[in-house]
This record gives sequence, C-alpha cells and structure tokens, in this order.
Amino acid sequence: MPEDKDFTNKLILGDNLEVLKSIEDNSIDLIYLDPPFFSNKTYEVIWGDEGEIRSFEDRFEGGIEHYIGWLKERVKLMHRKLKSTGSLFLHCDWHASANIRVEILDNIFGRNNFRNEIVWHYKGREKYNEKKLQSRYDSIFFYAKTEKARINYVKFEWDKEDRVKMLRRKIHKDTDGREWFWETRGQANGIEPYKKYLDEYLEKGEALNDVWVDIPMLRGNHPERIGYPTQKPELLLERIIELASNAGDIILDPFVGGGTTVAVADKLGRQWIGIDQSSMAIKVSDFRLKKQHDAFSQSYDLILRKKDYDFLRYTDAFEFETWIIKQFGGTPNEKQRNDGGIDGQAGDGAPVQVKRSDNIGVNVVKNFWASLQQYDQKLFDEKVANGETAGYIIAFSFGKGAVEEIARLKNKNNTVIKLVKVSDIVDYGKKPEVSLSANNIDKNEFEFTAKAKSEPDIDFYAWDFSHSEQNGFKPDVLFDKTGKQTKKFPDGEHQIAVEAVDREGMSGTDRVKIKVKK
Ligand SMILES: C[S@@+](CC[C@H](N)C(=O)[O-])C[C@H]1O[C@@H](n2cnc3c(N)ncnc32)[C@H](O)[C@@H]1O
Repeated sequence: MPEDKDFTNKLILGDNLEVLKSIEDNSIDLIYLDPPFFSNKTYEVIWGDEGEIRSFEDRFEGGIEHYIGWLKERVKLMHRKLKSTGSLFLHCDWHASANIRVEILDNIFGRNNFRNEIVWHYKGREKYNEKKLQSRYDSIFFYAKTEKARINYVKFEWDKEDRVKMLRRKIHKDTDGREWFWETRGQANGIEPYKKYLDEYLEKGEALNDVWVDIPMLRGNHPERIGYPTQKPELLLERIIELASNAGDIILDPFVGGGTTVAVADKLGRQWIGIDQSSMAIKVSDFRLKKQHDAFSQSYDLILRKKDYDFLRYTDAFEFETWIIKQFGGTPNEKQRNDGGIDGQAGDGAPVQVKRSDNIGVNVVKNFWASLQQYDQKLFDEKVANGETAGYIIAFSFGKGAVEEIARLKNKNNTVIKLVKVSDIVDYGKKPEVSLSANNIDKNEFEFTAKAKSEPDIDFYAWDFSHSEQNGFKPDVLFDKTGKQTKKFPDGEHQIAVEAVDREGMSGTDRVKIKVKK
C-alpha cells in the first residue's frame, strides 16, 4: 500500500481518550494495545509521574467493573478509527482477559469479528503454591473490524528439539554430520521410504498458529531493556506487525509505554502514532527512536503539552507567523513580504500582525493602527462603526506603553485593537538548563555528573557516550534517574552528551569532551 503523503508519524503526550478523538475515523490499519493490567500492584506504576498516577487511581477506584468501563470507552473510539480492512490486537492477562473479551471486544467488534486468542507463552522459574499454578502466558485478542481484514503468511520456525520430538523418527547422521530420517509418509500411496534431510525439513517451517512459544520475555540485561517491568519484546511486535499490516500502513499504539510498537513499526517501514499519558514514556520512546535513527528512518512530530519557548522564539519568522495564526483560528497571508504589516486574518476577518518578540512597545501599536487603514479602509471603518475588533497583534509579551496606547485608541478613536499573547494561544515553557561535568577517576574510567535546573522537576536523564553533531543525539542509556554515570573508554577523543527531561517532557542538553591517553 502506498504511503500516505499527508500523514506524519506522531508521538503524543496525553490521555488516549482525548487524543483518540482527534484522530480521523477509518484511518488506521492496525492497533496494538497493551493497557495497564488489572492488577492492584504498585509495580504497575511504571513511570510514577502525575499523569500515570492519576490514570492508575482512575482505573482502580471501583474494582473490575470500573476497570472495564475505563477501557471500554477507549476501545470504542479505537474501533471507530480502524479502516474496514483493519484489525486490533489487545494484549492482556488472566486478571481481566475473560471480562475484556466478552464485555468489551465481543460487544464492540461483534463476536463474528473475533479471529484469535493468541497465547504468548513465556518461561519462568516455577514456584510451588499450594493454591494455584503459576501463570505463564498472556492473551492477545485479535479482532477484525469487518470480514475484509486479512493476515499475511508468517512462517513459524520450530524449536529444533521440539520438532524432532514430534517427528518420532530415528535421526541418522551422514559422515559429514548432516542429519536425516526416513520419510515414510506416502507409503500408503506406494511411495517408498526415502531419505529426508532434517535441515531442509526444518527450514520449510509451518504457518503460524495461535500459540506462540518462541518469543522469550526480556530479562536481566537484555540489550533491548530500558528499565521498566512491562516492556514487551520487539520480536513480539515484529510478528504482529508483519502478520497484520503491510509497508506504508498506519499503526496505532494508544498505550505506547517505552515505544516498542513505534520503534518496530518504523524499522518495518510502517507509519505510526504512539500515545501515552506519561511524559516519561513519551520521552523514552522519543529517545529510543533517535537511538535507532538511520537513513531509512521517517521523521515524526513529538507533541507535548507545552511548546518549547526557544523553538518558537528563534524559529524562522515566516514559519512562526503562519503557524501561530493558524493556532489562533485565522488564515495566514501567503505572501512573505510586502504585507504592509498585516500577516493574516483572524477568524472574524480582522487583520492580524505577528511580532516574534517580547515587550512590544507603543510604536508597534501606532504603526499597526495606520497599517490597518492602508490595508483595507472600508473594512476598518466598518469594524470601528460596529464597535468590533479592528485588528489583533500577537506577540510574546507587551510593554506598558502598548497597553496604554490600546486604551487611548479606544477612548479617542473608538478603535478596538486587541493584544494577544502567544501564551494565550499555546502553552509554552522553557527547557531545562543542563551542565555536564566529567571526572577522570581511573586511567580510562570517567564519572559524569549532570546538573539540571528547570521549573518543573527533572524526571530522568539519557546519555550518549559517542556523541557527534552530524549523527545527532543517539543515547546509549535511555532512562537514568540519577544523573550520574561511570564508564570506561578506549584511547582517543570522545564527546559525551546528556539530555535532562523535566516533568513536562521538555528536555535540555549539554556536552563534554574527554581525551583518553595510552
Ligand atoms: C503496559 S505499559 C505499555 C508498555 C509497552 N507495550 C512497551 O512495550 O513499552 C502501559 C502504558 O499505558 C500508559 N497509560 C495508562 N493509562 C493511559 C491513558 N489513559 N492514556 C494513555 N496512556 C496511558 C502508561 O503510562 C504506560 O506507559
């Protein structure tokens, strides 16, 4: 399927209930969701930030019915977002799987659109409990939106030992060590037993079934591990995405966590949207995507609750004007220059001027008043006669002189000009200020300390130990709560970069260079 040119991949911070509403109906090919399970354990709180704790309390206030209600209203929206050929994979476990299937999925998708309950079995250390057996699987419910949904052929590679056991044939070895058995199927049709090589037999694989036993959980110091308990293996997402989508399709994960789904979707050339209500989850996902960034990676928008002040303030002036007027509900002028000081029209038709600066003074207001008349005298007269707003000035802040001039124009000329602060239109904040220092503690071993200042508290740090400007920030450590790291380096020069992330998901950076001598 061709890529949708108008689509941009997105990582969005927010409660998925709200964010889902802003996504176009019938636009998504595949949804994978791994919502917080219905278990009352505190380890369920992964990130521990405000958004997550609120959501945790929301879900557990009133027991299982409450949890089901909480999830159901979200799944209803997800169903609306799917294309008629789309499908949904909901990952859960014994705590609520029966209720989820009957009360949510059958109800919303219809029983006839149930396709599979996939059992993801994983191994673990079995502890004896006199009341019940250990649970060693998760359920992944696969529902199609309509009967049009199709899956791809996925080959299932058997575990060699299991497969040989199931064969129940004696295995022989050639002198070169190659293993084979006598293939006797076909004897009933008069075909003589013949030599079949085991490697060829195993290579063929089989079509995938609904019990997945070959994907281990992430344990210990697995290289994929970021450092929170509910992280899912990339292999699992690879399988689901390859099974139920094609290159260029749009994949949505409304509980994106540490970004497994979007990272895999990106690697497999799918387009994607990831949502999480935790700013930490969104930033960890952002770092993970940066880490795997290569020539084939797609660009994406990171949508936090607040915009970065520096970005807005120092971005290209014309781009800023256009963007802020749209946010204001108006229409920007297409012409970049000779606009006579008018940059666009507000929703009510009145001209708008944008100043990308602070502390706007009296002269700006005076000049704007003159420009309004030069621009369209008839419109100006009409607005004044009707006591309507004749024009708007948008800026970061206004000085006392400007405010007084507005009052004077109103009293003397009956002209209403409105001063609109950028912060009245969009929320913005300043990113943390960070300083990084290195301390050589042993020959080639260094200790790094990051100190960060920001109004909202700092949540965590990410570290890139082989930083270069042209590759951008590619963190080796994605989720460090301490701000301290110790590391050994080979001989040569190295640049280390750190990013500090605050409670709003805003991040600031600093770098340091070190030299390791023989
Ligand atoms: C089980 S984790 C997902 C883990 C993910 N599959 C991975 O591999 O990293 C569930 C996530 O849902 C998020 N979450 C909980 N309630 C939410 C809500 N109402 N809207 C968006 N995200 C939510 C949590 O912050 C958490 O990151």
